[in-house]
Amino acid sequence: EPENRDPKDKQLDGFRVDRNSGYLTTQQGVRVDHDDDSLTAGTRGPTLLEDFHAREKITHFDHERIPERVVHARGAGAYGFFEPYDDSLAQVTAARFLTTPGLRTPVFVRFSTVAGSRGSADTVRDVRGFATKFYTDQGNYDLVGNNFPVFFIQDGIKFPDFVHAVKPEPDNEIPQAQSAHDTFWDFVSLQPETLHTVMWLMSDRALPRSYRMMQGFGVHTFRFVDAHGIGTFVKFHWTPKLGTHSLVWDECQKIAGKDPDFNRRDLWDAIEAGQYPEWELGVQLVAESDEFAFDFDLLDATKIIPEEQVPVQPVGRMVLDRNPDNFFAETEQVAFHTANLVPGIDFTNDPLLQARNFSYLDTQLIRLGGPNFSQLPVNRPVTEVHTHQHDGYSQPTIQRGKASYHKNSLGSGCPALADEEVFTHYAKHVDGHVVRARSDSFTDHYSQPRLFWRSMSDVEAEHIVAAFGFELGKVTDVDIRERVVAQLDLVDHRLASRVAAQLGLDIPPESPVVDIAPPSPALSQLNTAMDSI
Ligand code: HEM
Repeated sequence: EPENRDPKDKQLDGFRVDRNSGYLTTQQGVRVDHDDDSLTAGTRGPTLLEDFHAREKITHFDHERIPERVVHARGAGAYGFFEPYDDSLAQVTAARFLTTPGLRTPVFVRFSTVAGSRGSADTVRDVRGFATKFYTDQGNYDLVGNNFPVFFIQDGIKFPDFVHAVKPEPDNEIPQAQSAHDTFWDFVSLQPETLHTVMWLMSDRALPRSYRMMQGFGVHTFRFVDAHGIGTFVKFHWTPKLGTHSLVWDECQKIAGKDPDFNRRDLWDAIEAGQYPEWELGVQLVAESDEFAFDFDLLDATKIIPEEQVPVQPVGRMVLDRNPDNFFAETEQVAFHTANLVPGIDFTNDPLLQARNFSYLDTQLIRLGGPNFSQLPVNRPVTEVHTHQHDGYSQPTIQRGKASYHKNSLGSGCPALADEEVFTHYAKHVDGHVVRARSDSFTDHYSQPRLFWRSMSDVEAEHIVAAFGFELGKVTDVDIRERVVAQLDLVDHRLASRVAAQLGLDIPPESPVVDIAPPSPALSQLNTAMDSI
């Protein structure tokens, strides 16, 4: 047995069972020598209730399914490790796994599509999830990111609306796993904050050739916190060593038919063949004092920090070198959560992130059947766990001792620890009136999609126009098409003209270049109409 096995791999040994060795038993361990015939009254008679073996077998089968994830249902996962290059980040974060040279932290990564169901095809036009669980020696840290650096909406309260618009339409559950339909484009046309991410979605970035050739981003601005409690804003970037590569749309459609497992198979096969994919972790750091130094808001997840303004600095590498043993137990039951933090990393007030911090635990309580899923093998930290929480459905641990409350005098205490051992929330200053309104610094929806569009090569631009043509071409409501083109005109007149030409629509009159645009005429009309209802 290799000596260098990581602590997570060793921990999993305690849960591994080789199902194909030994003899067949019931769940109670009673040996079974006949698994083909039910117990019946006579060889041609009815089946007997007392056939506990058949009943147990069928009952368990009846209960095999759990709900798929409400988003990111289809995925593929692998284990590996992360190691920092050096201790350079020690100046800004107390997180040991990022600052201890040579320290290898085990990880589990799950890549996913977003919109399709568990059985949908891999090569669809979609965002890809890139979620990493670091089993650090200070507890689990989850970086739950995507392969785009921006997101469709600014505030998590819109997430249910957005996902309802993206998912198959409710009456007929069509279309599966693609963005070519009325509800998605209706939402886009009415929510201009989506435009930046929609540009990414219409680009070849939405068609990754391989999970091994895909970037990852934390998207939000997070906060590093150093040993003295000083904060620094941070954006996370994963860069694949193999380069970032895409399929083209025609290939995607053919592959979706011939091998719907294309990306999943590629990851599995590469790891089995010893071709371990690797990513470099990079960070963009912004001093707290520069919070307002940009012409966008750092708390706005629809914006990137341009690398010309803040370069990405490489800090470590991640290698995926082991496939899971069991898809369901590991890849399906893994539970990522943006609020799984370790000392040295904290949130910002990004309203999208704040909603995520509620949503993941909430959905996992139902998806994974109650409050004990953090004890599932894939989710367990490699550190010791001592809480006063007890009981609940399917509690696997036998907690010993009488005191399941704080404070107690019976032995289990909460002694004072050195600062770096405990998580301390960043002492951010909070002040303000209670309002349902967002700062004006969130209203520029056009300049970054324009920046993206104007940085494209001719071929990339051609693909984007063709993608808009294809996707909007499937939209049946012509008002929706026109509203989207009107929005694109506020991004760039040539883009809108080329898309309009693809759709056989009139070329829109050129809008003045504005970043914080008044609603388009079509949008104002709709708003007026809706107000009068
Ligand atoms: C799942 C990323 C926004 C709710 C996921 C997953 C990823 C992800 C990668 C799949 C995790 C896995 O592999 O198991 C992101 C990113 C976002 C974002 C990068 C924006 C920056 C949101 C928001 C909400 C949300 C705003 C809700 C308010 C969920 C839920 C799941 C999920 C409910 C399913 C989790 C589960 O069943 O375990 N997200 N997401 N996400 N996300 Fe997000």
